[in-house]
Amino acid sequence: MSEAPKTATLTIDGENYELPIHSPTSGPDVLDIRKLYGQAGVFTYDPGFTSTASCESTITYIDGEKGILTHRGYPIGELAGQSHYLEVCYLLLYGELPTAAQLEDFESTITRHTMLHEQMGNFFRGFRRDAHPMAVMVGVVGAMSAFYHDSTDISDPRQREIASHRLIAKMPTIAAWAYKYTIGQPFVYPRNDLDYASNFLRMCFAVPAEEYEVNPILSRAMDRIFTLHADHEQNASTSTVRLASSSGANPFACIAAGIACLWGPAHGGANQACLEMLKEIGSVDRIPEFIERAKDKNDPFRLMGFGHRVYKNMDPRATVMKQSADEVLELLGVEDNPLLQVATELERIALSDPYFKEKKLFPNVDFYSGIILEAMGFPTSMFTPIFALSRTVGWISQWKEQLSDPAHKIGRPRQLYLGEDVRSYTDIENR
Ligand code: SDX
Repeated sequence: MSEAPKTATLTIDGENYELPIHSPTSGPDVLDIRKLYGQAGVFTYDPGFTSTASCESTITYIDGEKGILTHRGYPIGELAGQSHYLEVCYLLLYGELPTAAQLEDFESTITRHTMLHEQMGNFFRGFRRDAHPMAVMVGVVGAMSAFYHDSTDISDPRQREIASHRLIAKMPTIAAWAYKYTIGQPFVYPRNDLDYASNFLRMCFAVPAEEYEVNPILSRAMDRIFTLHADHEQNASTSTVRLASSSGANPFACIAAGIACLWGPAHGGANQACLEMLKEIGSVDRIPEFIERAKDKNDPFRLMGFGHRVYKNMDPRATVMKQSADEVLELLGVEDNPLLQVATELERIALSDPYFKEKKLFPNVDFYSGIILEAMGFPTSMFTPIFALSRTVGWISQWKEQLSDPAHKIGRPRQLYLGEDVRSYTDIENR
């Protein structure tokens, strides 16, 4: 006999309201309040959505207390260690690991969408040379809706798929060209004989004056960084993409909105802010000063790369990223990198400090990524564009999932209004 559905009883002014409770595959139960306003005439209040599930999803799951992250059920550590980014892209998009034939077909499709419409190169030239690459990416990705009209009809599943492939394929080209433009070097076109990560490294670092050989160790590290950033439940930028998509906006406009949100230092911009912070700390002996500032309620300073809305344990991506940092720096012969020494000591001191332990603040994905990226030759301004490149598949998979739900509707939160009550206009001479 099936169990009776779980419900919660809410009592307001002596009236009882039964609210359904839904149980997930993993994680906390959810209280379904969709009918609450209609039944009880009240809203719920949750600024920052700390206790609110915005949707159903089958893509990614995070257990913040245990420091677990899975994509379609597969732990991030196994995917980072045994898979590669385009295979993870297939998994996120289609729900299962591909067969060899499916993977070959998918990689071939992505490879053949890496070039940009030649006229899009003009967009880059409209920016100042000192534009932040994220500003360029927001502009150019949004402008894709002006060039790829044949994949903007979101009601057509085939157009949704083509748009998904175009975005995954073209983001490395857009990010690399944004970088090349800001350093005054010519654009380097993608090559079909290179894998995804190698293509990106070559488009960033090759110059026409000489051949560029991709270092396979750096290419593997780059691919792993892409995988570690691919998706992360309903984070701020993914929620932005879902909300933009709920109005029926085209995929390129939705992803441009996600890029804009990711740019903030509290979110994807933290990798750049974290490396800048490590440079400001400069040496191990200055760490205590910054730990004290991070604990000072009157000081807005926070340890960049530390803390997380969901993880109240080590971010499993940070663990893999630290291993990768050790490998890459050793292979590049910079294992005594002073920034890595500061970061490792900062992590050790912070994790033993009562304040950080009490608030369960651990290193997150952004804490070590900047150290690797700088060792690979990227300027700090390219850290968040690389995060955006990696997260495009997550945004697109979540976008696709939302559009596939026939019950989805426009997102339109309400508010707790504390402003003036109704009052009459007064002429200026009477004010
Ligand atoms: C990403 O959501 C995602 O999944 C994001 C992401 C993804 O993959 O999409 O994982 C990527 O954005 C990682 C986070 C990168 N941001 C940073 O590293 C910036 C530094 N971190 C903080 O800004 C903060 O930890 C947040 C924004 C990440 C989380 O903020 P919350 O959940 O709103 O936590 P909070 O700000 O309410 O902090 C709780 C307490 C506060 O103290 P009290 O008000 O309770 O006294 O912890 C303190 C905070 O002051 N705190 C910190 C701190 N982070 C939180 N104190 C010092 N240094 C920090 N870094």
